[in-house]
Amino acid sequence: MRFSGKRAVVTGGASGIGRATALRLAEEGCAVIVGDIDAAAGNALAETPNGRIAFRRTDVTQAEQIEALVAAADAAGGLDILFNNAGAGGAREPIDQISPEDWDRTQALLLRSVALGIRYAAPLMAKRGGGAIVNTSSVSALASGFAPTAYSTAKAGVLHLTKIAAADLAQHKIRVNAVVPGFIATNIFTSTLGLEGTARDQANAAIAGMAAQAQPIQRTGRPEDIAAAVAFLASDDAAFVTGTHILVDGGLTIGTRQSWDPTQPGLFAALEQFAA
Ligand code: NAI
Repeated sequence: MRFSGKRAVVTGGASGIGRATALRLAEEGCAVIVGDIDAAAGNALAETPNGRIAFRRTDVTQAEQIEALVAAADAAGGLDILFNNAGAGGAREPIDQISPEDWDRTQALLLRSVALGIRYAAPLMAKRGGGAIVNTSSVSALASGFAPTAYSTAKAGVLHLTKIAAADLAQHKIRVNAVVPGFIATNIFTSTLGLEGTARDQANAAIAGMAAQAQPIQRTGRPEDIAAAVAFLASDDAAFVTGTHILVDGGLTIGTRQSWDPTQPGLFAALEQFAA
């Protein structure tokens, strides 16, 4: 019960990583307010038996809605933890085709929302004597090939914002860290493609299969894997940790596939014919 007496806000908490984190925090005693645009799933989550999760419909691209979300937590007795996590795939065009509007829309969802979450939560945490903020970045912040250009750039921004905000807010005893997920089987892929119903179920099954083979640890990455790292960063176990990130990717970014997959011939295997 690391979070007894604490209160958290989790954005994007109606599904996937946010949902698993809301449940994990609540299991450990935290009162959680989930903010999400998906009211049906958010309200269903708030019906979970432990009674510690509330839902407030929130669009994180709207500054006043983020402000109202963290204010609701403050009014309920104080805000201790903020998980800036809401997201979607964003615009998929490459840099030589993307429109200014699509670029801005993606940055607003994935980067500005995190900045504003910190902006509005920090004064509330400061007056309480401190707090913990965790932001969701992505392996796409570290290298190309994992996600579209606008998304990857926003997620790199989240990593840097995490460091700079940690420096700004240390004086208020507010820690700021990020989690960097690898390939996690959630709805993000099908919702980015706009898939519904059977097509969505089939695509999600295919994604789970692909995710199991994508990295050295050969099982599907799960939302609960990320929730465990977020819970650590949000807890007093991480009291001396700020301005950094935890990579939770099953080894996806260790190196090229041939470095860990025995079925893939490496350079020397490919050159062996010349040694004969
Ligand atoms: P998900 O689709 O299961 O959950 C995302 C949630 O965010 C949904 O409930 C959705 O309704 C909500 N959301 C979308 N736009 C919103 C808005 N404007 N305002 C409020 N809520 C909004 O996806 P997942 O995978 O759980 O995504 C969570 C975070 O993890 C995202 O920031 C995503 O970019 C990040 N991530 C996911 C990875 C993966 O492989 N699943 C890998 C790396 C990062």
